[in-house]
Amino acid sequence: MIEPQNRPIRIAVTGAAGHIGYALLFRLAAGELLGRERPVILHLLEITPALPALSGVAMELADCAFPLLEDLVLTDQPDKAFDGVDYAFLVGSRPRSQGMERKDLLRVNAEIFKIQGRALNERASRKVRVLVVGNPANTNAMIARENAPDLKDSQFTSMMRLDHNRALSLLAKSCRVNVGDIQRVTVWGNHSSTQFPDIEQAQVGDEPATQKVDQRWIEETLIPTVQQRGAAIIKARGASSAASAASAALDHMRDWIHGTPPGSWVSMGVAASGQYGIAPGVFFGYPVECRGGEMRIVEALKLSDFARSRIHLTDQELREERSGVLDLLPHR
Ligand code: NAD
Ligand code: LMR
Repeated sequence: MIEPQNRPIRIAVTGAAGHIGYALLFRLAAGELLGRERPVILHLLEITPALPALSGVAMELADCAFPLLEDLVLTDQPDKAFDGVDYAFLVGSRPRSQGMERKDLLRVNAEIFKIQGRALNERASRKVRVLVVGNPANTNAMIARENAPDLKDSQFTSMMRLDHNRALSLLAKSCRVNVGDIQRVTVWGNHSSTQFPDIEQAQVGDEPATQKVDQRWIEETLIPTVQQRGAAIIKARGASSAASAASAALDHMRDWIHGTPPGSWVSMGVAASGQYGIAPGVFFGYPVECRGGEMRIVEALKLSDFARSRIHLTDQELREERSGVLDLLPHR
């Protein structure tokens, strides 16, 4: 059946009264995800004590008089929040504070994603696409996915796009080009300090990136800066990144829906099924191409020994994270 072009699209955002939620909702309501023709209904989930704050956000959304914002659903019930939704941004969870690694949040946040995975399984559209932002995002995505047995691996992703954008921005600055001139950057692995921002395949204009910057810059500047950027922002701001995270979440979903540029790719956390020797089932940052609303891991890239050893390291960390939450994975 052909879908009417003006059917309102239902988008769930969890943690909607939080910092990222505040930077994301107004852009979704303005039509930045689905275009300026498509009405949206936002389903906003919060914990009960945050419902008063959420009602204030709802007042502000109303006051913007967005022509595309057809309705709002405000709730503290995951079943209601995910009822019939086409897209879900799973943001709500505790952020880390200074001195913590993201994986220190694992047991604090994991239960949230078990409950939400089940609710998505029961209530969301059968074609729902899910992006997990709440940290530790890769392992939370795995928990949500494993608790949604009636949905497919390919409907769940975790966010690597902020790391990807950080790498793009640094490389563009170093090469004195626009970010739009750079293609084929990958951030492999975990959204953590073991992630591997990789420019071995990247092009800057028509030239390989590795001819524009040297290995020393890659190892001593690019990789550690991107790996530690979240911590640097927490130290400087006293709070974790929010506007850049919301922007990356929009970029991620937009590319998933509308497609990646021909010949290039983006970084997304997706369930591994053996590609590049990664533990099956863990959500791993891969190079991903999107076409017609479907995403596909770019396979058979030739990797250097350096790249392989970095990828191995971040895979090990994800395997360890998984062993810490086995009790929340019903099928393992
Ligand atoms: P925040 O504390 O400002 O907001 C989080 C919101 O989630 C709060 O309003 C809280 O009430 C709500 N919440 C908590 N448990 C919930 C639940 N069970 N259901 C619904 N809502 C719930 O935090 P923030 O700055 O918006 O960050 C949110 C998460 O995103 C954190 O875990 C943070 O570490 C993560 N993050 C990830 C990336 C990434 O690249 N993957 C980037 C930035 C932040
Ligand atoms: C980030 O990368 O900015 C976020 O994951 C927040 C954090 O804890 O670093």
